[in-house]
Amino acid sequence: MPHKIAVLAGDGIGPEVIAEAVKVLKATGADFSFEEALIGGTAYDKTGHPLPQKTLDLCKESDAVLLGAVGGPAWDHLETKLRPEVGALLPLRAELQLFANVRPAKTLPALLLASPLKGERGLVDLVVVRELTGGIYFGKPRERRENGTVAVDTCIYSKSEIERIAQRAYEIARHRRHNLVSVDKANVLETSRLWREVVTDIAEQNHDVSTSHMLVDNCAMQLIRDPQQFDVILTENMFGDILSDEASMITGSLGLLPSASLSHHKDGKSFGLYEPVHGSAPDIAGQQRANPIAAILSAAMMLKYTFGENDVAFRIDQAVDAVLEHGLRTADIFEKGTRLASTAEMGDAIAGKLAE
Ligand code: IPM
Ligand code: MG
Repeated sequence: MPHKIAVLAGDGIGPEVIAEAVKVLKATGADFSFEEALIGGTAYDKTGHPLPQKTLDLCKESDAVLLGAVGGPAWDHLETKLRPEVGALLPLRAELQLFANVRPAKTLPALLLASPLKGERGLVDLVVVRELTGGIYFGKPRERRENGTVAVDTCIYSKSEIERIAQRAYEIARHRRHNLVSVDKANVLETSRLWREVVTDIAEQNHDVSTSHMLVDNCAMQLIRDPQQFDVILTENMFGDILSDEASMITGSLGLLPSASLSHHKDGKSFGLYEPVHGSAPDIAGQQRANPIAAILSAAMMLKYTFGENDVAFRIDQAVDAVLEHGLRTADIFEKGTRLASTAEMGDAIAGKLAE
């Protein structure tokens, strides 16, 4: 049976970068079947909804989902529940029970000097494990009151929601450097106090991993001051949203960062949705200027977390490193002395390396 992948290219640069990720997956020689479906503003324009039922059904029938990006100024005027971000991404995460968002931020040696920190901090290799289906993104009611002059968002967490993401973060830490920092705002928020209590209990069952707790404002500062201190950062939905963007910049470009959003797992393998951390970048869409590496590395994460094909995933990571070592660069990471590549040229080079 081929591995069945739902391909949701989405808006902006989504289709361009996803085309390269599919190209690279095909070049691995593994057996995949790909089926495309609409999502985001593009889906809204064609069907009147950013997450058509057909798309959701396809995702549920597939082994994994490869997603480009959604959203853009063309759809910003829509009412909140029809906007691509809220109307497509959030229900997709909830419906597919993608509670564990895994966002590695790793400096690629060839790009050390491209980081805004200019290599001063050395190589960074951390992963943010972000709770993705709870907290303030999903707490009801999300509403306007008193003639629109008062707005309400509610942050709710249950013990079981915290337990399952913490367990997953420990499993990930166990395959890395055995160091976990749980990030919260326990000096202010009740949800954070519960978070800390639950993580403290789970830590008791995971003595092989060292655990510490850090307040989110301090973590934001420590990420700039000394990012090498971090291995696994475990945190709730909104803190993870913010910290993962911050962490990504330490590595030089948002165009390089992949992500996995995982559901419950069986035998170490999870259903998952894989997407680049960057957004739809409407300003450069359709120009072949986008960096497809984040999408390609997301495909590599799929091989690892959903299909257990760690060797093939590793070969993709190596092909990306090799192409960068050879001096090929998309516009976002271009420097003097390197060679400028279009989106497709970068994808071709990586696929070509794999086929060697
Ligand atoms: C992300 C994005 C989304 C989020 C938005 C687009 C809803 O910023 O995946 O990090 O906040 O989760
Ligand atoms: Mg974000």
